[in-house]
Amino acid sequence: METKVHSTFNQFGSLPVENVQALASKNLKNVPYRYIRSEIEFDVVSFDESLQIPVIDMSKLYDNADEQEKLHLACKHWGFFQLINHGVEDEVIEKMKIDAQEFFNLPLEEKMASAQIPNHIEGYGQAFVVSQDQKLDWGDMLFLFGLPVPLRNMRFTPTNPPSFRATFDKYSMELHKVIIHLMKLFAKNLGINHELLASFFEDGIQGVRMNYYPPCAEASKVFGLAPHSDATGLTLLIQVNEVEGLQIKRNEKWVPIKPKPGAFIVNIGDMLEIMSNGEYKSIEHRAMVNPANGRLSIAAFHNPKMGTQIGPLPDLVKTNKALYRTLPLEEFLRLKMASKLDGKHMIKKMML
Ligand code: OGA
Ligand code: NI
Repeated sequence: METKVHSTFNQFGSLPVENVQALASKNLKNVPYRYIRSEIEFDVVSFDESLQIPVIDMSKLYDNADEQEKLHLACKHWGFFQLINHGVEDEVIEKMKIDAQEFFNLPLEEKMASAQIPNHIEGYGQAFVVSQDQKLDWGDMLFLFGLPVPLRNMRFTPTNPPSFRATFDKYSMELHKVIIHLMKLFAKNLGINHELLASFFEDGIQGVRMNYYPPCAEASKVFGLAPHSDATGLTLLIQVNEVEGLQIKRNEKWVPIKPKPGAFIVNIGDMLEIMSNGEYKSIEHRAMVNPANGRLSIAAFHNPKMGTQIGPLPDLVKTNKALYRTLPLEEFLRLKMASKLDGKHMIKKMML
């Protein structure tokens, strides 16, 4: 069934471009010019250990004020943290990793059964390609809606491996529980009605993007995913294999993230930065690729429900000035999807 949410999202399709996994399998010594990003050589990457993102223990968040404070500071000063003891069973995560890996391992023709169709963001393909001469990212993705359930489109959900659907269903539901719990803690930490944020996200829209970044002969000259902040509420990301590549921008340097086994990498998205009136930060990040090994990650984006006004929450602008405009969710997403990935451009558009 084509819902209102579908019709909103279905204006956002990407222009079709070559499958990167197929391109990579040609083992070209030089990658096509459209992938080369000359700006990368001027970027500074920092390996300073003190720049590793905070680690939050969810099992302590119920009753430990110190851990709650640590969470608040992580959202304020980092915008990124690793979440351990989050209550999602290892088995659920491991199974999702295996099924995602198996999907990308399939021959191209089989993956194409889930291919994007014009004007759809769901399915197997690419995102944010909006012009014919724009630079491209070195990666393919499978994007699926997880929640609300009626939004799921079986046309794009892989049937191979056969367990994919059941695995995805479980994964999607479990992550939703985690984010609702986090929303309650965020609200408490922000000093607003404890249920307010959770009420926006309870029937919220969850989109899951599985990113596959093939190995690349010119890995240091391409982006797996160009610098961007996530135009969502909250993202929960896992790295599927041992290959690292996620980097966040901190003090004008790029800091590689080292995922802890079993942890979720959590980051504040643009919508939460705006709703918190800038108290919480949506941080720019990017994915780099590896010369020898393919990399796989799964990012689950949690958005408020349709119709939510994306703007500073009224309770937070009683004494403070509103720092951002307010737009309905639909309008906000339309602006985001009409552009290529471009740093924090949505935040810049929304700032007053
Ligand atoms: C994303 C993202 C990083 C990664 O999908 O929005 O930032 O490590 N992914 O794949
Ligand atoms: Ni991202």
